[in-house]
Amino acid sequence: MLTPLADQILETYAPEPKFGRKFAFDPPVDLAHFSAFTSGQPFAAFKTMRENAPVCWCKEPTELGGGFWALTRHDDVRAVSLDPKTFSSQKGGILMAYGNPAQRHPVLHRASLDQMINMDPPIHFELRREHLPFFTQKYVADLKGKVEGKVTTLLDTIAPMGACDLVEHVSAELPLFTLSEILGIPESDRPKLVRWMHFLEIAGYIVAEKNFGSVDPKFFAEFLSNVQEMFDYGRSMLLKRRAEPREDLLTALALAKVDGDLMPDEFLDGSWLLIAFAGNDTTRNSISGTMKLLTEFAAEKARVQANPPLLPTMVDEAIRMVSPVMYMRRTATKDTEIRGQKIAEGEKVIMYYGAANRDPSVFIDPDRFDAARANGKDHVAFGIGPHVCLGQRVANMQLEAVYRQIFSRFPDMHWTGEIDIAPNNFVHAIRKLGVKFTPEKRKAA
Ligand code: HEM
Repeated sequence: MLTPLADQILETYAPEPKFGRKFAFDPPVDLAHFSAFTSGQPFAAFKTMRENAPVCWCKEPTELGGGFWALTRHDDVRAVSLDPKTFSSQKGGILMAYGNPAQRHPVLHRASLDQMINMDPPIHFELRREHLPFFTQKYVADLKGKVEGKVTTLLDTIAPMGACDLVEHVSAELPLFTLSEILGIPESDRPKLVRWMHFLEIAGYIVAEKNFGSVDPKFFAEFLSNVQEMFDYGRSMLLKRRAEPREDLLTALALAKVDGDLMPDEFLDGSWLLIAFAGNDTTRNSISGTMKLLTEFAAEKARVQANPPLLPTMVDEAIRMVSPVMYMRRTATKDTEIRGQKIAEGEKVIMYYGAANRDPSVFIDPDRFDAARANGKDHVAFGIGPHVCLGQRVANMQLEAVYRQIFSRFPDMHWTGEIDIAPNNFVHAIRKLGVKFTPEKRKAA
Protein backbone atom coordinates (compact mmCIF):
# COMPACT_ATOMS: atom_id res chain seq x y z
CA MET A 1 0.00 0.00 0.00
CA LEU A 2 1.34 3.38 -1.04
CA THR A 3 1.84 5.57 2.02
CA PRO A 4 1.50 9.33 1.54
CA LEU A 5 4.82 11.02 0.86
CA ALA A 6 3.57 14.12 2.67
CA ASP A 7 4.04 12.17 5.93
CA GLN A 8 7.52 10.96 4.99
CA ILE A 9 9.15 14.02 3.46
CA LEU A 10 10.58 15.93 6.38
CA GLU A 11 12.96 18.81 6.00
CA THR A 12 16.48 18.20 7.22
CA TYR A 13 18.06 21.53 8.08
CA ALA A 14 21.82 21.86 7.78
CA PRO A 15 22.81 25.46 8.52
CA GLU A 16 26.47 24.58 7.92
CA PRO A 17 27.90 21.79 5.76
CA LYS A 18 28.88 18.88 7.99
CA PHE A 19 32.21 18.20 6.28
CA GLY A 20 33.12 21.83 5.53
CA ARG A 21 33.71 23.40 2.13
CA LYS A 22 36.33 22.36 -0.38
CA PHE A 23 35.70 25.49 -2.45
CA ALA A 24 35.95 28.57 -0.22
CA PHE A 25 33.75 30.79 -2.36
CA ASP A 26 30.55 32.57 -1.44
CA PRO A 27 27.87 32.69 -4.14
CA PRO A 28 27.54 36.19 -5.64
CA VAL A 29 23.74 35.90 -5.60
CA ASP A 30 21.20 34.70 -3.05
CA LEU A 31 19.67 31.81 -4.98
CA ALA A 32 17.10 31.18 -2.26
CA HIS A 33 15.66 34.65 -2.70
CA PHE A 34 12.76 34.88 -5.14
CA SER A 35 13.50 38.45 -6.24
CA ALA A 36 17.02 37.44 -7.38
CA PHE A 37 15.37 36.21 -10.57
CA THR A 38 13.15 39.13 -11.59
CA SER A 39 15.73 40.40 -14.10
CA GLY A 40 16.20 36.96 -15.57
CA GLN A 41 18.40 34.05 -14.52
CA PRO A 42 21.71 35.08 -12.92
CA PHE A 43 23.88 33.58 -15.67
CA ALA A 44 26.90 35.77 -14.82
CA ALA A 45 26.77 34.56 -11.21
CA PHE A 46 26.41 30.96 -12.38
CA LYS A 47 29.56 31.42 -14.48
CA THR A 48 31.64 32.54 -11.50
CA MET A 49 30.25 29.69 -9.41
CA ARG A 50 31.02 27.15 -12.13
CA GLU A 51 34.58 28.46 -12.35
CA ASN A 52 35.31 28.98 -8.64
CA ALA A 53 33.04 26.56 -6.79
CA PRO A 54 31.22 24.07 -9.02
CA VAL A 55 29.82 22.53 -5.83
CA CYS A 56 28.98 25.71 -3.98
CA TRP A 57 27.53 25.98 -0.48
CA CYS A 58 24.62 28.46 -0.44
CA LYS A 59 22.78 29.65 2.62
CA GLU A 60 19.01 29.93 2.86
CA PRO A 61 17.11 32.59 4.81
CA THR A 62 16.92 31.85 8.52
CA GLU A 63 13.19 31.07 8.42
CA LEU A 64 13.96 28.18 6.09
CA GLY A 65 16.89 27.16 8.22
CA GLY A 66 19.59 25.52 6.26
CA GLY A 67 21.69 25.66 3.20
CA PHE A 68 22.31 23.61 0.09
CA TRP A 69 24.95 22.60 -2.42
CA ALA A 70 24.48 24.28 -5.80
CA LEU A 71 25.71 22.45 -8.91
CA THR A 72 26.53 24.47 -12.00
CA ARG A 73 28.47 22.04 -14.24
CA HIS A 74 26.82 19.90 -16.89
CA ASP A 75 28.73 16.73 -15.88
CA ASP A 76 27.71 17.04 -12.24
CA VAL A 77 24.03 17.67 -13.01
CA ARG A 78 24.03 14.57 -15.22
CA ALA A 79 25.83 12.40 -12.66
CA VAL A 80 23.51 13.36 -9.79
CA SER A 81 20.36 12.92 -11.90
CA LEU A 82 21.51 9.47 -13.00
CA ASP A 83 22.17 8.24 -9.44
CA PRO A 84 18.80 8.23 -7.63
CA LYS A 85 20.12 5.76 -5.02
CA THR A 86 22.55 8.34 -3.66
CA PHE A 87 20.61 11.46 -4.62
CA SER A 88 16.97 10.93 -3.77
CA SER A 89 13.91 12.81 -5.00
CA GLN A 90 11.83 11.21 -2.25
CA LYS A 91 13.88 11.93 0.86
CA GLY A 92 13.30 15.68 0.71
CA GLY A 93 11.19 16.33 -2.40
CA ILE A 94 12.29 18.31 -5.43
CA LEU A 95 11.86 21.86 -4.11
CA MET A 96 14.57 23.77 -2.27
CA ALA A 97 12.22 24.27 0.69
CA TYR A 98 8.57 23.63 1.45
CA GLY A 99 8.09 26.30 4.11
CA ASN A 100 6.03 25.74 7.21
CA PRO A 101 3.19 23.29 6.39
CA ALA A 102 1.03 25.02 9.02
CA GLN A 103 1.17 28.20 6.93
CA ARG A 104 0.30 26.50 3.64
CA HIS A 105 -3.04 25.39 2.24
CA PRO A 106 -3.28 21.84 3.68
CA VAL A 107 -4.56 20.06 0.56
CA LEU A 108 -2.23 22.00 -1.71
CA HIS A 109 0.72 21.25 0.56
CA ARG A 110 0.04 17.52 0.65
CA ALA A 111 -0.76 17.30 -3.06
CA SER A 112 2.50 19.05 -3.93
CA LEU A 113 4.32 16.21 -2.15
CA ASP A 114 2.18 13.17 -3.02
CA GLN A 115 3.37 13.07 -6.63
CA MET A 116 5.43 10.86 -8.87
CA ILE A 117 8.10 13.54 -9.25
CA ASN A 118 8.88 13.11 -5.52
CA MET A 119 9.24 9.32 -5.73
CA ASP A 120 12.32 7.13 -6.03
CA PRO A 121 12.60 3.83 -7.90
CA PRO A 122 11.05 1.30 -7.90
CA ILE A 123 7.62 2.80 -7.05
CA HIS A 124 8.37 5.82 -9.20
CA PHE A 125 8.55 3.75 -12.36
CA GLU A 126 5.34 1.87 -11.57
CA LEU A 127 3.47 5.15 -11.73
CA ARG A 128 5.50 6.72 -14.54
CA ARG A 129 4.83 3.68 -16.73
CA GLU A 130 1.10 4.45 -16.71
CA HIS A 131 1.73 7.89 -18.24
CA LEU A 132 3.96 6.67 -21.07
CA PRO A 133 1.34 5.89 -23.79
CA PHE A 134 0.32 9.58 -23.75
CA PHE A 135 3.80 10.83 -24.51
CA THR A 136 4.96 8.52 -27.34
CA GLN A 137 6.12 9.86 -30.69
CA LYS A 138 2.94 8.54 -32.32
CA TYR A 139 0.62 10.08 -29.72
CA VAL A 140 2.34 13.45 -30.00
CA ALA A 141 2.26 13.30 -33.82
CA ASP A 142 -1.51 12.71 -33.68
CA LEU A 143 -1.94 15.61 -31.25
CA LYS A 144 0.03 17.94 -33.50
CA GLY A 145 -2.89 18.65 -35.87
CA LYS A 146 -5.06 19.90 -33.02
CA VAL A 147 -2.26 22.03 -31.63
CA GLU A 148 -1.59 23.56 -35.07
CA GLY A 149 -5.30 24.42 -35.31
CA LYS A 150 -5.27 26.09 -31.90
CA VAL A 151 -2.16 28.11 -32.80
CA THR A 152 -3.96 29.35 -35.94
CA THR A 153 -6.96 30.45 -33.86
CA LEU A 154 -4.76 32.25 -31.33
CA LEU A 155 -2.83 34.03 -34.07
CA ASP A 156 -6.11 34.96 -35.83
CA THR A 157 -7.08 36.84 -32.67
CA ILE A 158 -3.90 38.91 -32.54
CA ALA A 159 -3.57 39.32 -36.34
CA PRO A 160 -5.25 42.75 -36.57
CA MET A 161 -3.62 44.13 -33.41
CA GLY A 162 -0.06 44.84 -34.55
CA ALA A 163 1.09 44.78 -30.92
CA CYS A 164 0.13 42.68 -27.90
CA ASP A 165 1.27 40.84 -24.81
CA LEU A 166 2.45 37.50 -26.21
CA VAL A 167 2.02 35.80 -22.83
CA GLU A 168 -1.63 36.68 -22.47
CA HIS A 169 -2.63 35.89 -26.05
CA VAL A 170 -0.45 32.94 -27.01
CA SER A 171 2.05 31.54 -24.50
CA ALA A 172 -0.42 31.14 -21.63
CA GLU A 173 -3.26 29.81 -23.77
CA LEU A 174 -1.63 27.09 -25.84
CA PRO A 175 -0.17 24.84 -23.08
CA LEU A 176 -3.53 24.75 -21.26
CA PHE A 177 -5.27 23.74 -24.47
CA THR A 178 -2.71 20.99 -25.14
CA LEU A 179 -2.86 19.67 -21.58
CA SER A 180 -6.63 19.59 -21.68
CA GLU A 181 -6.48 17.53 -24.86
CA ILE A 182 -4.08 15.01 -23.32
CA LEU A 183 -5.93 14.80 -20.04
CA GLY A 184 -9.36 14.61 -21.65
CA ILE A 185 -10.91 17.72 -20.08
CA PRO A 186 -14.15 18.74 -21.79
CA GLU A 187 -14.04 22.06 -23.59
CA SER A 188 -16.71 23.59 -21.39
CA ASP A 189 -14.54 23.03 -18.29
CA ARG A 190 -11.30 24.46 -19.71
CA PRO A 191 -11.86 28.09 -18.63
CA LYS A 192 -11.93 26.82 -15.04
CA LEU A 193 -8.43 25.41 -15.46
CA VAL A 194 -7.25 28.85 -16.62
CA ARG A 195 -8.86 30.45 -13.55
CA TRP A 196 -7.36 27.94 -11.09
CA MET A 197 -3.87 28.37 -12.51
CA HIS A 198 -4.28 32.13 -12.29
CA PHE A 199 -5.19 31.96 -8.59
CA LEU A 200 -2.39 29.55 -7.74
CA GLU A 201 0.18 31.72 -9.47
CA ILE A 202 -0.99 35.02 -7.99
CA ALA A 203 -1.07 33.49 -4.51
CA GLY A 204 2.46 32.19 -5.04
CA TYR A 205 3.68 35.68 -5.97
CA ILE A 206 1.95 37.28 -3.00
CA VAL A 207 3.77 34.87 -0.69
CA ALA A 208 7.08 35.39 -2.53
CA GLU A 209 6.80 39.16 -2.37
CA LYS A 210 5.36 39.07 1.20
CA ASN A 211 2.85 41.50 -0.18
CA PHE A 212 -0.03 40.49 2.08
CA GLY A 213 -0.95 44.04 3.15
CA SER A 214 -1.89 45.14 -0.36
CA VAL A 215 -4.20 42.21 -0.98
CA ASP A 216 -7.96 42.58 -0.92
CA PRO A 217 -9.19 40.17 1.82
CA LYS A 218 -11.73 38.92 -0.71
CA PHE A 219 -8.80 37.47 -2.67
CA PHE A 220 -7.93 35.03 0.14
CA ALA A 221 -11.48 33.72 0.28
CA GLU A 222 -11.56 33.37 -3.50
CA PHE A 223 -8.18 31.65 -3.44
CA LEU A 224 -9.38 29.07 -0.91
CA SER A 225 -12.56 28.35 -2.82
CA ASN A 226 -10.69 28.05 -6.13
CA VAL A 227 -8.14 25.61 -4.69
CA GLN A 228 -10.94 23.54 -3.18
CA GLU A 229 -12.85 23.58 -6.47
CA MET A 230 -9.73 22.54 -8.39
CA PHE A 231 -9.09 19.49 -6.22
CA ASP A 232 -12.78 18.54 -6.05
CA TYR A 233 -12.93 18.70 -9.84
CA GLY A 234 -9.75 16.65 -10.35
CA ARG A 235 -10.82 14.00 -7.89
CA SER A 236 -14.35 13.73 -9.26
CA MET A 237 -13.04 13.44 -12.84
CA LEU A 238 -10.59 10.73 -11.81
CA LEU A 239 -13.26 8.79 -9.93
CA LYS A 240 -15.60 9.12 -12.92
CA ARG A 241 -12.89 7.64 -15.14
CA ARG A 242 -12.55 4.68 -12.79
CA ALA A 243 -16.23 4.00 -13.33
CA GLU A 244 -16.23 4.79 -17.05
CA PRO A 245 -12.75 4.49 -18.57
CA ARG A 246 -11.87 6.43 -21.74
CA GLU A 247 -8.80 6.83 -23.95
CA ASP A 248 -7.17 9.67 -22.01
CA LEU A 249 -4.50 10.41 -19.44
CA LEU A 250 -7.06 10.98 -16.68
CA THR A 251 -8.21 7.37 -17.15
CA ALA A 252 -4.61 6.11 -17.08
CA LEU A 253 -4.02 7.95 -13.79
CA ALA A 254 -7.32 6.82 -12.33
CA LEU A 255 -6.56 3.16 -13.07
CA ALA A 256 -2.83 3.28 -12.23
CA LYS A 257 -1.79 0.61 -9.75
CA VAL A 258 1.21 0.99 -7.49
CA ASP A 259 2.21 -1.95 -5.29
CA GLY A 260 -0.82 -3.76 -6.69
CA ASP A 261 -3.37 -1.19 -5.44
CA LEU A 262 -5.19 1.69 -7.06
CA MET A 263 -3.72 5.00 -5.92
CA PRO A 264 -5.07 6.44 -2.67
CA ASP A 265 -6.95 9.76 -2.93
CA GLU A 266 -3.92 11.82 -1.87
CA PHE A 267 -2.02 10.60 -4.91
CA LEU A 268 -4.97 11.34 -7.19
CA ASP A 269 -4.79 14.97 -5.98
CA GLY A 270 -1.02 14.98 -6.45
CA SER A 271 -1.09 13.43 -9.93
CA TRP A 272 -3.70 15.95 -11.04
CA LEU A 273 -1.66 18.86 -9.68
CA LEU A 274 1.62 17.59 -11.16
CA ILE A 275 0.34 17.24 -14.70
CA ALA A 276 -1.54 20.53 -14.60
CA PHE A 277 1.56 22.39 -13.43
CA ALA A 278 4.43 20.51 -15.07
CA GLY A 279 3.18 21.02 -18.61
CA ASN A 280 1.83 24.50 -18.17
CA ASP A 281 4.14 27.31 -17.10
CA THR A 282 7.22 25.47 -18.39
CA THR A 283 5.97 25.52 -21.98
CA ARG A 284 4.51 28.98 -21.56
CA ASN A 285 7.86 30.43 -20.56
CA SER A 286 9.70 28.62 -23.34
CA ILE A 287 7.38 30.16 -25.93
CA SER A 288 7.85 33.65 -24.48
CA GLY A 289 11.59 33.25 -23.86
CA THR A 290 12.12 32.13 -27.47
CA MET A 291 10.62 35.37 -28.81
CA LYS A 292 13.02 37.35 -26.61
CA LEU A 293 16.01 35.35 -27.91
CA LEU A 294 14.93 35.69 -31.54
CA THR A 295 14.82 39.47 -31.10
CA GLU A 296 18.18 39.62 -29.34
CA PHE A 297 19.78 37.41 -32.00
CA ALA A 298 18.01 38.76 -35.10
CA ALA A 299 20.54 37.23 -37.53
CA GLU A 300 19.73 33.76 -36.17
CA LYS A 301 16.03 34.44 -36.62
CA ALA A 302 16.64 35.44 -40.25
CA ARG A 303 18.71 32.28 -40.72
CA VAL A 304 15.81 30.04 -39.65
CA GLN A 305 13.28 32.03 -41.67
CA ALA A 306 15.46 31.50 -44.72
CA ASN A 307 15.93 27.82 -43.91
CA PRO A 308 12.79 26.41 -42.19
CA PRO A 309 14.21 22.87 -41.67
CA LEU A 310 16.36 24.49 -38.94
CA LEU A 311 13.24 24.92 -36.79
CA PRO A 312 13.70 21.76 -34.65
CA THR A 313 17.36 22.63 -33.88
CA MET A 314 16.31 26.21 -33.13
CA VAL A 315 13.77 24.88 -30.62
CA ASP A 316 16.42 22.73 -28.86
CA GLU A 317 18.71 25.73 -28.73
CA ALA A 318 15.98 28.02 -27.40
CA ILE A 319 15.09 25.56 -24.64
CA ARG A 320 18.79 25.21 -23.77
CA MET A 321 19.14 28.97 -23.40
CA VAL A 322 15.81 29.65 -21.68
CA SER A 323 15.94 26.62 -19.31
CA PRO A 324 12.52 27.48 -17.88
CA VAL A 325 12.80 25.03 -14.96
CA MET A 326 15.65 26.61 -13.05
CA TYR A 327 16.45 23.75 -10.72
CA MET A 328 15.50 20.40 -9.23
CA ARG A 329 16.60 19.30 -5.81
CA ARG A 330 17.92 15.97 -4.58
CA THR A 331 18.82 14.91 -1.03
CA ALA A 332 21.86 12.73 -0.24
CA THR A 333 20.85 9.33 1.13
CA LYS A 334 24.36 8.67 2.51
CA ASP A 335 27.66 10.47 2.94
CA THR A 336 29.09 10.92 -0.54
CA GLU A 337 31.29 13.16 -2.67
CA ILE A 338 30.90 15.33 -5.79
CA ARG A 339 34.03 16.69 -7.48
CA GLY A 340 36.01 16.08 -4.28
CA GLN A 341 33.48 17.95 -2.11
CA LYS A 342 32.22 15.75 0.74
CA ILE A 343 28.43 15.82 1.07
CA ALA A 344 26.75 14.48 4.20
CA GLU A 345 23.65 12.31 4.32
CA GLY A 346 20.56 14.54 4.41
CA GLU A 347 22.23 17.53 2.75
CA LYS A 348 20.43 19.12 -0.17
CA VAL A 349 21.93 19.21 -3.66
CA ILE A 350 20.37 21.62 -6.13
CA MET A 351 20.99 21.21 -9.85
CA TYR A 352 20.89 24.49 -11.77
CA TYR A 353 19.86 23.52 -15.29
CA GLY A 354 20.40 26.99 -16.78
CA ALA A 355 23.97 26.97 -15.46
CA ALA A 356 24.69 23.46 -16.76
CA ASN A 357 23.24 24.45 -20.13
CA ARG A 358 25.79 27.24 -20.45
CA ASP A 359 28.77 25.13 -19.44
CA PRO A 360 31.45 26.03 -22.02
CA SER A 361 33.02 22.58 -21.74
CA VAL A 362 29.90 21.23 -23.49
CA PHE A 363 28.51 24.19 -25.44
CA ILE A 364 30.98 26.36 -27.39
CA ASP A 365 30.31 30.07 -26.87
CA PRO A 366 27.39 29.15 -24.61
CA ASP A 367 25.76 32.58 -24.32
CA ARG A 368 25.30 32.77 -28.07
CA PHE A 369 21.97 31.67 -29.55
CA ASP A 370 23.04 29.44 -32.45
CA ALA A 371 19.96 28.15 -34.26
CA ALA A 372 22.02 25.41 -35.94
CA ARG A 373 24.06 24.35 -32.90
CA ALA A 374 25.15 20.77 -33.53
CA ASN A 375 24.76 19.63 -29.93
CA GLY A 376 21.91 21.85 -28.70
CA LYS A 377 19.97 18.66 -27.96
CA ASP A 378 22.51 17.78 -25.23
CA HIS A 379 20.90 20.34 -22.95
CA VAL A 380 19.55 19.16 -19.60
CA ALA A 381 16.59 21.57 -19.43
CA PHE A 382 14.28 18.53 -19.36
CA GLY A 383 16.41 16.78 -16.73
CA ILE A 384 17.95 13.39 -17.40
CA GLY A 385 17.63 9.94 -15.85
CA PRO A 386 14.60 8.28 -14.29
CA HIS A 387 12.62 11.52 -13.91
CA VAL A 388 13.48 12.99 -17.31
CA CYS A 389 10.59 15.16 -18.47
CA LEU A 390 7.69 13.11 -19.74
CA GLY A 391 6.35 16.02 -21.75
CA GLN A 392 9.48 16.98 -23.70
CA ARG A 393 8.09 15.88 -27.07
CA VAL A 394 4.86 17.73 -26.33
CA ALA A 395 6.78 20.88 -25.40
CA ASN A 396 9.02 20.78 -28.50
CA MET A 397 6.03 20.14 -30.75
CA GLN A 398 4.18 23.18 -29.35
CA LEU A 399 7.18 25.46 -29.79
CA GLU A 400 7.67 24.32 -33.37
CA ALA A 401 3.98 24.84 -34.14
CA VAL A 402 3.97 28.38 -32.70
CA TYR A 403 7.13 29.56 -34.44
CA ARG A 404 6.39 27.90 -37.77
CA GLN A 405 3.16 29.92 -37.95
CA ILE A 406 4.59 33.13 -36.50
CA PHE A 407 7.43 33.08 -39.05
CA SER A 408 5.02 32.68 -41.94
CA ARG A 409 2.27 35.07 -40.78
CA PHE A 410 4.19 37.69 -38.78
CA PRO A 411 7.78 37.50 -40.04
CA ASP A 412 8.68 40.83 -38.40
CA MET A 413 7.22 40.03 -34.97
CA HIS A 414 9.70 41.12 -32.32
CA TRP A 415 9.97 41.75 -28.60
CA THR A 416 9.49 45.45 -27.72
CA GLY A 417 11.69 45.34 -24.62
CA GLU A 418 8.66 45.25 -22.32
CA ILE A 419 8.94 42.31 -19.94
CA ASP A 420 7.75 41.36 -16.48
CA ILE A 421 9.42 38.40 -14.78
CA ALA A 422 7.75 37.07 -11.63
CA PRO A 423 9.60 36.60 -8.33
CA ASN A 424 10.12 32.87 -8.62
CA ASN A 425 13.28 30.90 -7.87
CA PHE A 426 12.01 27.63 -9.37
CA VAL A 427 10.51 28.46 -12.77
CA HIS A 428 11.72 31.34 -14.94
CA ALA A 429 8.26 32.91 -15.06
CA ILE A 430 7.67 35.57 -17.72
CA ARG A 431 4.38 37.24 -16.80
CA LYS A 432 4.31 39.71 -19.67
CA LEU A 433 6.21 40.08 -22.96
CA GLY A 434 5.32 42.94 -25.31
CA VAL A 435 5.59 42.22 -29.05
CA LYS A 436 5.02 44.28 -32.21
CA PHE A 437 4.39 43.15 -35.76
CA THR A 438 2.83 44.23 -39.01
CA PRO A 439 -0.88 43.46 -38.64
CA GLU A 440 -2.42 41.08 -41.10
CA LYS A 441 -4.95 42.56 -43.48
CA ARG A 442 -8.42 41.32 -42.61
CA LYS A 443 -9.16 38.24 -44.72
CA ALA A 444 -12.26 38.33 -46.91
CA ALA A 445 -15.12 36.55 -45.15
C1 HEM B 1 9.85 23.38 -21.98
C2 HEM B 1 8.99 22.72 -21.27
C3 HEM B 1 9.34 21.80 -20.13
C4 HEM B 1 10.47 21.76 -19.35
C5 HEM B 1 11.70 22.63 -19.44
C6 HEM B 1 10.29 20.69 -18.40
C7 HEM B 1 11.24 20.32 -17.45
C8 HEM B 1 11.15 19.19 -16.65
C9 HEM B 1 12.21 18.72 -15.80
C10 HEM B 1 13.54 19.39 -15.59
C11 HEM B 1 11.78 17.57 -15.23
C12 HEM B 1 12.64 16.64 -14.40
C13 HEM B 1 12.32 16.47 -12.96
C14 HEM B 1 13.43 15.80 -12.17
O1 HEM B 1 14.42 15.29 -12.68
O2 HEM B 1 13.26 15.79 -10.96
C15 HEM B 1 10.41 17.34 -15.68
C16 HEM B 1 9.61 16.30 -15.28
C17 HEM B 1 8.30 16.17 -15.68
N1 HEM B 1 7.66 16.86 -16.68
FE1 HEM B 1 8.39 18.41 -17.73
N2 HEM B 1 9.07 20.11 -18.61
C18 HEM B 1 8.45 20.75 -19.66
C19 HEM B 1 7.22 20.45 -20.22
C20 HEM B 1 6.39 19.44 -19.80
C21 HEM B 1 5.11 19.12 -20.40
C22 HEM B 1 4.51 19.81 -21.62
C23 HEM B 1 4.57 18.11 -19.64
C24 HEM B 1 3.26 17.39 -19.77
C25 HEM B 1 2.41 17.55 -20.74
C26 HEM B 1 5.54 17.78 -18.60
C27 HEM B 1 5.39 16.81 -17.66
C28 HEM B 1 6.38 16.40 -16.78
C29 HEM B 1 6.17 15.35 -15.79
C30 HEM B 1 4.89 14.57 -15.56
C31 HEM B 1 7.38 15.20 -15.11
C32 HEM B 1 7.69 14.23 -13.99
C33 HEM B 1 8.37 13.01 -14.52
C34 HEM B 1 8.77 12.02 -13.45
O3 HEM B 1 8.83 12.37 -12.27
O4 HEM B 1 9.03 10.87 -13.82
N3 HEM B 1 6.63 18.61 -18.73
N4 HEM B 1 10.08 18.34 -16.58
